[in-house]
Formats: sequence, structure tokens, C-alpha cells
Amino acid sequence: MPDVYNKVTELDAAVAGQLADAMELRAKDPAQQAMLAAYLAGLDLPDNAAVVEIGCGTGAISRALAARPGVGEVTGVDPSPVFLDRARELSAGAANLSFRQGDGRDLPLPGASFDLAVMHTVLATCLTRPACSRRRSGCCARAARWRSSTATTTR
Ligand SMILES: C[S@@+](CC[C@H](N)C(=O)[O-])C[C@H]1O[C@@H](n2cnc3c(N)ncnc32)[C@H](O)[C@@H]1O
Repeated sequence: MPDVYNKVTELDAAVAGQLADAMELRAKDPAQQAMLAAYLAGLDLPDNAAVVEIGCGTGAISRALAARPGVGEVTGVDPSPVFLDRARELSAGAANLSFRQGDGRDLPLPGASFDLAVMHTVLATCLTRPACSRRRSGCCARAARWRSSTATTTR
């Protein structure tokens, strides 16, 4: 059975809204928060680091990233306009956080423009690793900083 997150742009608004609720609920789970903290621990980011989250959903992880010391700005990217509306609503007032509609396989962002790229529970559910590898996503990380909750790769 295909993962529902694979077809986010085809979902009706009510279903997408329920998924948005579920994402926010999940982000509050202590086990999820511990997983995020574990794989972000020890990151050696430059001051004022630029971070991109690919597959940001409602932006729970982007908000956590934006609140980390040393992080200058966070850009969240997701294909779903419904999730992005929720992300913008929930991050209102956070000056260092913005969201863009886009696909992780063809990011609407210039290459080598971020210090850190994060994919949190995206590779397993939405994108196969070959389809959205660090190189295809192209992007992004200027240095060997790439964190994923399902795979951590280094250059
Ligand atoms: C399980 S949710 C995780 C959301 C967020 N990272 C979090 O942990 O709260 C998977 C996300 O991947 C997004 N997604 C699906 N296909 C995508 C694609 N082709 N490129 C980028 N993101 C995609 C979905 O819209 C959804 O927001």
C-alpha cells in the first residue's frame, strides 16, 4: 500500500488537515524529540548557519531548528500547500524561519546555499534514497552536514 505522504498534493484538504494535526502531535512525543536531539547532537555549525529542512510538513522540526543556538535562518520545503499554510501559521513571528513549496527531487533553491540539510522522517516514507539522495537534492549543504532521521550520510 502506498504511503499517504507520497501523494500529498492529491489529498483533499480535510485529509491533509488531519495529517497536519498528526504531525504536530507526533512532534510533541518525547521519543520523537529524543531522536531529533540525538542526531542533531554534536553538529558543528558555523555562526549564523543557514539550514534547510526538506519535507518540512507543518514545520515542527524547522521551528526546533530555528530555535537552536547558532542557527541564523531555516528554510522549510514541502510539496503540500496545506502543510505549508499550517507551518506558516504556527511559526508566525519567527523572523528566521520561512517556507517554500517544492519537491525534494528538484529543489527550488540554489546549490551549495545551506550549511545543513535535514530530512526528518521523509526518506523512509516519501522518497527513495536514490530519488532524493544528497546529490540529487543537489542542494544544499555547503559542507558535509546532512542529517536524516533515517540515514546519516557524510561526504
Ligand atoms: C512524515 S512527514 C514528516 C514531516 C516533518 N519532517 C516532520 O517530521 O514533522 C513527510 C513529509 O514529506 C513530505 N514529502 C512528500 N513527498 C515529498 C517530496 N517529493 N519532496 C519533499 N517532501 C516530500 C510530505 O509532504 C510530508 O510533509
